[in-house]
Amino acid sequence: MKRIRLGVNIDHVATVRNARGEDYPSPLRAALLAEKNGADSVTIHLREDRRHINETDLKKIIKKLKIPLNLEIAATKEMLKIALRSKPPFICIVPEKRQEITTEGGLNLKYNINFLRLLIKRLKNNNSRVSLFIEPNIKDLDKAKKFNADCVEIHTGKLCNLINQKKNFQNELNRIRKAVLHGHKLGLEIHAGHGLTYTSAKILSKLKDIKEFNIGHFLIGESIFEGMPLTIKKFKRILK
Ligand code: PXP
Repeated sequence: MKRIRLGVNIDHVATVRNARGEDYPSPLRAALLAEKNGADSVTIHLREDRRHINETDLKKIIKKLKIPLNLEIAATKEMLKIALRSKPPFICIVPEKRQEITTEGGLNLKYNINFLRLLIKRLKNNNSRVSLFIEPNIKDLDKAKKFNADCVEIHTGKLCNLINQKKNFQNELNRIRKAVLHGHKLGLEIHAGHGLTYTSAKILSKLKDIKEFNIGHFLIGESIFEGMPLTIKKFKRILK
């Protein structure tokens, strides 16, 4: 049976922490809990505006985590410097816009090509596995191969939206299926991420060449409901 790896994205633990300016809930604690419960890797996105994860989180997590840390970064000189210094085992290069709520699409591989090539080369020479977050289209897969990326992560946001809205998702699923097949033939390792829920992850898990799923927002949201009963009981014990 094929084994799909699960990368747990803990950005939104930091979102909750930052909403109150406290030092809890702790992203490090979440990362270690993910590790203890079978996650294959932990993902954090260090954004230019530091809206959730910050460099202190990155330093603490990389020091303690035994499973691979997957650092998501934009293709900028600042992030290159941080990544070279912190040496995460996995890196995923993502597009980033200041105004967006979340990563809205895949990388534009027609833009800033020379810097992107240099970035990939330097990160790989620094012993990080490099992935590019792209839309499920053949041209971008060919480019990712040409740029010598190790992996690509297919943006599943559009598919997940269609599934959530109970709309017909077959065309988008076919587009992803073709992209996965093409990428696999090129020798790229294929990952998937963005917007995944139990339902969409189940559907995509049937595509046999996807090796890794990176899941954050839904997983952290569900964890609230899984954890709330125990937390309420604990408070009731304290307050009795
Ligand atoms: N993969 C990448 C490259 C991302 O940028 C994100 C969002 O930060 C995710 C996966 C996780 O998406 P979600 O939080 O919607 O599960």
